[in-house]
Amino acid sequence: MGRVEGKVCLVTGGASGLGRADAIRLAEQGAIVVVTDVDVTGGEETAQLAGGDAIFMEHDVSNEDAWLDVLKTTVDKFGKLNVLVNNAGIVIPASPEEVTNEQWRLIQSINTDGVFYGIKHGISTIKQNGELGSIINMSSTAAMQGYPAYFAYAASKGAVRSMTKSAAVHCVQSGYKIRVNSLHPGGIATQMTANIPTPTPEMLEIMKNMPPGPGIGQPDDVAYTVLFLASDESKHINGVELPVDNTTIISP
Ligand SMILES: NC(=O)c1ccc[n+]([C@@H]2O[C@H](COP(=O)([O-])OP(=O)(O)OC[C@H]3O[C@@H](n4cnc5c(N)ncnc54)[C@H](O)[C@@H]3O)[C@@H](O)[C@H]2O)c1
Repeated sequence: MGRVEGKVCLVTGGASGLGRADAIRLAEQGAIVVVTDVDVTGGEETAQLAGGDAIFMEHDVSNEDAWLDVLKTTVDKFGKLNVLVNNAGIVIPASPEEVTNEQWRLIQSINTDGVFYGIKHGISTIKQNGELGSIINMSSTAAMQGYPAYFAYAASKGAVRSMTKSAAVHCVQSGYKIRVNSLHPGGIATQMTANIPTPTPEMLEIMKNMPPGPGIGQPDDVAYTVLFLASDESKHINGVELPVDNTTIISP
């Protein structure tokens, strides 16, 4: 019996990095995984790697109609949704003085609107089955400290942190058996961190403060936390913000 046996879990941004690791670890423990992403090739590859009943659906999280389609197809195909991992996200390095309106809007449309639609329609889908449910929102250590070189990104992750808490309380007050928690990774080796052109002062500070030992985080460091929050092992944990950063957090 797996730790998430029979649970239907939807992972956005599952074509690479953290989303791919989440999908694989959830499937390994008995979940039926729905992988979604704008990257079709990577998404299909993840569904294959996860194996079992895993499927891929093309899905732009910034598009509300696309959310409705993906959630309806999931329920039509598998009968229910138990777990939603709001993982898709982008980063564009730019300070408060440099960031353009276009960059700001693009980041908010994916990182903030995408999670808003996921929470809004995810709750109404998950609550229908009457089983324990879990929504896991991928925020960042950027939501907890000053990240001037990632101004718009940090703002979007702050919104994810605060939407998580309001949604968690809403679910409790409404009598829904759905928990909503946020994860705050810091410096995990994925395409996103590889694409950052030059180390910023914040990155250098993080690296300087990195304790000896495991070093930079790996996608599985986050995926095993997702697995725990997806499973009923964490059924009494709700509305928390959990750093996954090996205490590399630095002061603002
Ligand atoms: N890697 C880190 O150090 C780190 C740290 C903190 C938070 N995070 C967060 O974790 C999440 C995953 O990041 P990652 O490091 O795996 O990055 P990644 O770039 O490897 O993966 C992000 C995925 O999101 C997808 N995506 C982008 N725009 C999308 C859209 N509009 N709709 C659907 N999918 C879309 C991409 O195609 C990609 O597959 C992000 O939300 C990121 O902000 C990452």
